[in-house]
Amino acid sequence: MFRVPEKEPRAPNACLGPVSTQGPDSNYGDGLERECSRKSTQKLPELYGVGDPTATFSCDSSHLSSRGRVIKWFWDSAEEGYRAYRMDEYDEEKNPHGIVNLGTSENKLCFDLLSKRLSQSDMLQVEPSLLQYPDWRGHLFLREEVARFLSFYCKSPVPLKPENVVVLNGCASLFSALATVLCEAGEAFLIAAPYYGAITQHVYLYGNVRLVCVYLDSEVTGQDTRPFQLSVEKLEMALQGADSEGVKVKGLILINPQNPLGDIYSPEELREYLEFARRHGLHVVVDEVYMLSVFEESLGYHSVLSLERLPDPQRTHVMWATSKDFGMSGLRFGTLYTENQDVATAVASLCRYHGLSGLVQYQMARLLQDHDWINQVYLPENHARLKAAHTYVAGELQALGIPFLNRGAGFFIWADLRKYLPEATFEEEMLLWHRFLDNKVLLSFGKAFECKEPGWFRLVFSDKAHRLRLGMQRVRQVLQGTSQVAEDPPFCQAQEQRDQHR
Ligand SMILES: Cc1ncc(COP(=O)(O)O)c(C=O)c1O
Repeated sequence: MFRVPEKEPRAPNACLGPVSTQGPDSNYGDGLERECSRKSTQKLPELYGVGDPTATFSCDSSHLSSRGRVIKWFWDSAEEGYRAYRMDEYDEEKNPHGIVNLGTSENKLCFDLLSKRLSQSDMLQVEPSLLQYPDWRGHLFLREEVARFLSFYCKSPVPLKPENVVVLNGCASLFSALATVLCEAGEAFLIAAPYYGAITQHVYLYGNVRLVCVYLDSEVTGQDTRPFQLSVEKLEMALQGADSEGVKVKGLILINPQNPLGDIYSPEELREYLEFARRHGLHVVVDEVYMLSVFEESLGYHSVLSLERLPDPQRTHVMWATSKDFGMSGLRFGTLYTENQDVATAVASLCRYHGLSGLVQYQMARLLQDHDWINQVYLPENHARLKAAHTYVAGELQALGIPFLNRGAGFFIWADLRKYLPEATFEEEMLLWHRFLDNKVLLSFGKAFECKEPGWFRLVFSDKAHRLRLGMQRVRQVLQGTSQVAEDPPFCQAQEQRDQHR
């Protein structure tokens, strides 16, 4: 399997290294000590790869436990670009030569609508129960609202039930909680790669759970109808591969709409993946955090909760959050829907550490209840703005002759920059990424999503027109070899004002 040289900066969310020798019963610390010293010689597998998030980390603090060192290592090696961005953030007036962030998947298009709605008087309630210890699953009034919200927006055939809902502070915590309560240490989830790479650490840091990547190809072959297509055959092969390496797979993670591809699964595909999981007794964690960010209406998104019948309801666990669909990644609200009461209770038990303040629970209930505002104001405007931003970036890429996946969901475009790599290696991918960063535009490189083909990049488009234009100008400069820190062109401001009054 591919390994980045130890000195090379890289995201920590890569699925690296050989199968761990750490068995489920082994002591956490012992296992990690072994990981510290191991060197891998394995080559990139064609079809699957058993992840080992700790394969290259260096232990450098005597103050920390072995577990603490791994956790710190993830932080240290994480998000080099994001840290650079935080120190030199672009600001139209105060720092016009700062870094434009087209790397972080956030929706910055609708703050005006959100701040107006969240500032209304019905949002603030102070009463004793909201200031006291809550039910760790979440206040009943909120779980009732979440159940109604999901029933409506997921188009569930029967009303969803509040007792199947747990609320907590975002999907990252939920990945961590589910991994911990569903798997033994050392066990794994299957996941199609490329995928939102931070899941590697979400499932690993507390749960010591790993990911088995089902590597997808950009080339359309065999039964495929689109690039990077997941199929049951590929899932079967990855499962067999993990099994042959002695890795116990406990579940399958599906991201729908997919990050970074922007693909959405058809009901038939969903059913096939769920049937595959049922045949093998696997849990399925379905991440629908972008479900309301399908801005191309004709695509007809289907939530897993809209299916007439789930093949294995006791092993199907759905997550959603306001982080993406409501552009509130800093508010930290997420929810689990599962019919499995043991799973709901175990996750709720961890909500003692991941719970939400009573006041935020109240606000979220008010927000989710307001279907009129969501349907008539927020969603139409959000979708129109996402579509306009997508159209702009897609047009820029087309003008540059860059192939990309033209999808209608999510906040990002998955672009093929392979022709800009002198050699098809992840080192060259990283060098290109550095050139973007040096030219003050932050993108995400494919390796961070565990893409097996070097040269793919994710560009986030859900930002205001002036930043998007400047970011794309800097991207163009790098690709055309004319890079230097660009001035914010004067027309951007006027354009921005026009866009805002559209
Ligand atoms: C697919 C996916 N799932 C989960 C998350 C994390 O969500 P949250 O901010 O609610 O923790 C992200 C964030 O980028 C994501 O892209």
